[in-house]
Parts: sequence; structure tokens; C-alpha cells
Amino acid sequence: MIGRLNHIGVAVPSIEAAKQTYMDLYGIAADAITATGEMPAQGVRFAFVNLPNSQIELIEPLGETSPIQKFLERNPAGGQHHVCFEVEDIHAARDAMAAKGATVLGEPRIGAHGTLIIFVHPKNSNGVLVELMETPKSGAH
Ligand code: CO
Repeated sequence: MIGRLNHIGVAVPSIEAAKQTYMDLYGIAADAITATGEMPAQGVRFAFVNLPNSQIELIEPLGETSPIQKFLERNPAGGQHHVCFEVEDIHAARDAMAAKGATVLGEPRIGAHGTLIIFVHPKNSNGVLVELMETPKSGAH
């Protein structure tokens, strides 16, 4: 069973411009937005906007073969890309998903929060790409 909503992933053409939007339009303080990191293995740059009850994950393509490149070609201004729910054990979640006939995309791998993640195909969840993320042991984001 899934746990709390950890974050909503938003693909953007420019993380720095998107950060500015959250500050200027929505009043987010600069120190509530993380520094931009890179995950070359997953082809993304990322940063988190911290909200009182969740986070927005901004993701920008990194490299020519980024998996979000095609998404941005279809949505040039950016768009909501995935939702991420926490699970206790990613391998158990992966096995449960597969047993129920869902299409799990790839093997468990380290995500932006430093814990293991998988993605579940949008066709299994009303068109929404779902990221499952192992809850950080510290309980922190
Ligand atoms: Co994510």
C-alpha cells in the first residue's frame, strides 16, 4: 500500500526560470528551494520546492537522451510529469506491482532523495506516471 504523497514532478525547460516563478508568483522563499542537482544516469537536473505538506520536484533534461526530452517537445512550456508516493520497501512494491499486472519501468534505482525508486507506467494509473519511492529512514525529505 502506498503511503504519503512525497512530491509532484514537474518537467520544465529551465529550472532556474521555474524557481523564479515559484518565488515571484507564489511567494516561496529562496531558502525553501533546494540547490539544483544532477542525476546523469537518469538524464535530469532537479531541484525541490519545499511546501508545508509536500514538495514540487522540478526536472529539466540533462543530455541528448534525457527521458523527459520528448515530454518537453510535446509540452514546450513544461507540465506535470509524475506523482511520487512513498512505500516502505521498494522491492516488495515492485513485486506487488508486477504481480498485479502493472508495467514497472526499470529496476529499483537511487532517486533524487537518495532512496530507491521505481516508476509505474501511466497506462496503469489513469494516465498518470507514478513514481514509488522508499521512505527515507530518517523520516526527512
Ligand atoms: Co520524482
